[in-house]
Amino acid sequence: MSVSSKFSDGKITVPSLLQRKSLPPQDSTKITCLTAYDYPTARLLDEAGVEVLLVGDSLGMVMLGHETTLPVTVDEMLHHTRAVRKGTRRALVVADMPFGSYHAELSESVRNAVRFVKEAGAEAVKVEGGERRLELIARLTEAEIPVMGHVGLTPQSLHAMGGFKVQGKTPDAAEQLVRDARAVEAAGAFAIVLEGIPRELAALITRELRIPTIGIGAGPECDGQILVINDLLGLTFGTVPKFARQYANLSEIISSTVREYCADVRRGNFPSDAESYHLPEPKTSRKEINFDVELTD
Ligand code: KIV
Repeated sequence: MSVSSKFSDGKITVPSLLQRKSLPPQDSTKITCLTAYDYPTARLLDEAGVEVLLVGDSLGMVMLGHETTLPVTVDEMLHHTRAVRKGTRRALVVADMPFGSYHAELSESVRNAVRFVKEAGAEAVKVEGGERRLELIARLTEAEIPVMGHVGLTPQSLHAMGGFKVQGKTPDAAEQLVRDARAVEAAGAFAIVLEGIPRELAALITRELRIPTIGIGAGPECDGQILVINDLLGLTFGTVPKFARQYANLSEIISSTVREYCADVRRGNFPSDAESYHLPEPKTSRKEINFDVELTD
């Protein structure tokens, strides 16, 4: 694909998202974002018109079975980002930088972010945190790596927050969140996730900022919305947060489909004759069978 065809035909880019925010509200539509962690899901979401695919470190919980996102490594994130990249044509692919990959030296953080672009094809990275990420976001932006910020309930700060709790509920905490969001924008981020904060605060931040806000558990006034794909599809175990609307129940569909398959195998109903290969006509004697033949009909 040539560079011009890749970027024509409605490809979602960082500038196109920024431009959406600059339109008057009546001419703008909300930005649609979902997480994706593998090739088939990325293809389906991209073809369905989702505009931003986030390879979230939530994959540690919903795909790898961890209790938190904290154990996820850069190599695991690269592996999943590559698969999502391959399944995506139009959406913007954003990769989450996992816990520990941007918390030590600035130069190491930049090198880690570069890996997402160079080795996995990410078009942007996401980092959690507000004012204290100012320098990092500025350095990454300077290195031509677009950054999506993330403030509010930031799962990588689980221990510091004392649990997955709604943030910004007191006047002081709300003011700090506004400062955080402003800092993320001032540092050069092209968008910011607002997670687990009161709707009124998210609406205020959305009005304040020139970059799009993407809400999750932050009410309907944000410029876009994101959900964890497993929550939306009903492919999770345990309780899901109240903000996660479940549009399907894939767990039930998978369980009943697999139960049906097992019953067919046990009863000898699978495979049928039509699902079996046959010797060529006229029937050859066993001695003449060439076992190197390709198994096609
Ligand atoms: O990791 C993730 O999936 C996220 C989104 C929920 C914003 O950070």
